[in-house]
Amino acid sequence: MRLLVLGGSWFVGSAVVGEARARGHDVTLFNRGLSNARPLRDVRHVSGDWEQEADLRRLAAAGPWDAVIDVAGTIPRLVRRCAEALSPVAGHYVFVSTISAYRDWPHKPVDETSTLWDAPAVDDPGRRSWDPDAYGPLKVGCELAAADVFGTDGLLIVRPHVVLGPREYVGRLPWWLRRVHRGGEILVPAPDRNIQPVDVRDLATFIVDRAESTSTGIYNVAAPQGREQFSDLIAACAEATGRAATVVWADEEWLIEQGVRQWTEIPLWRALPTAWSMSTSKAEAAGLRCRSIRETAVDTWAWMQDGGRAVDHERTAEHGISVERETALLAAWRQR
Ligand SMILES: NC(=O)c1ccc[n+]([C@@H]2O[C@H](COP(=O)([O-])OP(=O)(O)OC[C@H]3O[C@@H](n4cnc5c(N)ncnc54)[C@H](OP(=O)(O)O)[C@@H]3O)[C@@H](O)[C@H]2O)c1
Repeated sequence: MRLLVLGGSWFVGSAVVGEARARGHDVTLFNRGLSNARPLRDVRHVSGDWEQEADLRRLAAAGPWDAVIDVAGTIPRLVRRCAEALSPVAGHYVFVSTISAYRDWPHKPVDETSTLWDAPAVDDPGRRSWDPDAYGPLKVGCELAAADVFGTDGLLIVRPHVVLGPREYVGRLPWWLRRVHRGGEILVPAPDRNIQPVDVRDLATFIVDRAESTSTGIYNVAAPQGREQFSDLIAACAEATGRAATVVWADEEWLIEQGVRQWTEIPLWRALPTAWSMSTSKAEAAGLRCRSIRETAVDTWAWMQDGGRAVDHERTAEHGISVERETALLAAWRQR
């Protein structure tokens, strides 16, 4: 198959490219080449910026493709522009969206029919920096833009929950791995809180499977609900790093009273059972299989130890609690 990957060099895209190459597909990558600029064997690289119409025209001239996989689109105007430029030379558009597209997440469980945010009135906010409040509505706008051009018959939308694994740049699992490796008492909330992050390689396998079968429609992608808990994440990090984690399980309500930021200061922690209640039965029926958090942690730590370095990203700085604050909270927890 001839596959065009828009993006393809940071994290999810890189895993998609790896999976497609391993299956022998004819892969073209389109990006600026600012990150991981080393050319990949067996991959055609068209260098360009999707903000530039001339670059998109040049890209279209390198077609045709059986499918376009748009991994990283976040601005509706640009997704529409990419889709319009490529629709004459591509039969199928795959758009990687997000769980953040659902208006009621994390406050309600979500399946593929759950209500979405309204798309923003302005299809390009101008800014390109990370904005957690704008992210979900913008991704909805991107989904709609792709649908306007390719129609529902030519479009597959994949909405992943949190994605972890080698090359993760958001910095959630790398933070936990480093924290457990550092040792000492570790402040952790709610051992029995469910989690369902998906390994980037399982997500990539699913995306390439679906592209191969020219699948359309919408699929949520996450690990099975209720299979793993927060305690499994910590045990996985301990096994991966070879450290015995000395865990202090602190009460969630107490942590909230102390002003600890959920989701970022303690990465992946959300004191809501519905935060990890994404229905994945549709994707599972279509073949989604998810490895354990243990395997994800072991492989991510091995990648880090091997000198693996994720792309620099502004989101990394949001994640993790400082040593001083954790120490102070541990002392306060003991004295409460
Ligand atoms: N991480 C999570 O937990 C999570 C959860 C749910 C959904 N998602 C979704 O998963 C996707 C993650 O994508 P990723 O960042 O890992 O994708 P990626 O395709 O691996 O990386 C982003 C790519 O975009 C290229 N790029 C950036 N700006 C560009 C421009 N103006 N013109 C051309 N190329 C450009 C970058 O290369 P250059 O810099 O070299 O141009 C890079 O190749 C996102 O769509 C996100 O919404 C992530």
